[in-house]
Amino acid sequence: MIDIDPRFSKILHSHEEIESAAKKIGAEIDHDYADSIPILVVVLKGAVMWAGDLFKNISIDVEMDFIDIASYNGGVASSNKILLKTDMTTDVKGRDVIIVEDIVDTGLSLQYLESLLASRGAKSVKTATMLNKEKGHKIAVKADYVGFEIDNEFVAGYGLDYQEIWRNLPFIGVVNPNIYS
Ligand code: PRP
Ligand code: MN
Ligand code: MG
Repeated sequence: MIDIDPRFSKILHSHEEIESAAKKIGAEIDHDYADSIPILVVVLKGAVMWAGDLFKNISIDVEMDFIDIASYNGGVASSNKILLKTDMTTDVKGRDVIIVEDIVDTGLSLQYLESLLASRGAKSVKTATMLNKEKGHKIAVKADYVGFEIDNEFVAGYGLDYQEIWRNLPFIGVVNPNIYS
């Protein structure tokens, strides 16, 4: 049924595939943070669905917090300007932090968060992203845990929005260019 959804030119990943990726990365985090209680920082809004999957697959003790930033304002291209809408509340000084993102595209959001957390004295900052769009990077950034590499196409679903809708879809698809061109 989802194969003929006219909103999408291609379906990239089903929720089963995403859950498998979360399982794999959850096990890596369990291993890498065995001696720590990291703070997982979910980047609103896009990362909520992925964060739910990832958290269920982490067994060590962790804390959670949320930060709301935005740069796309619902469109298909980054404004290149990051807006901090709602800050997290946990003190990260001396703590291991894992940024939980849905996608690293230009890399500007990740760079913003990495420097914000470093300026607040985090002991370490790593990133667990569902998607990495390597060809979209405008700066040198690197996510430590990556669910899937994707091509340079505009995707939505599973937390990612097109004009604030379609975050609820249980799959990730390439938005049909007819929709926005
Ligand atoms: C999207 C996405 C990432 C960021 C990645 O968020 O959820 O957070 O952009 O893009 P970048 O690497 O080019 O910075 P968006 O600004 O659309 O806000 P949202 O999560 O509330 O949709
Ligand atoms: Mn986002
Ligand atoms: Mg968005």
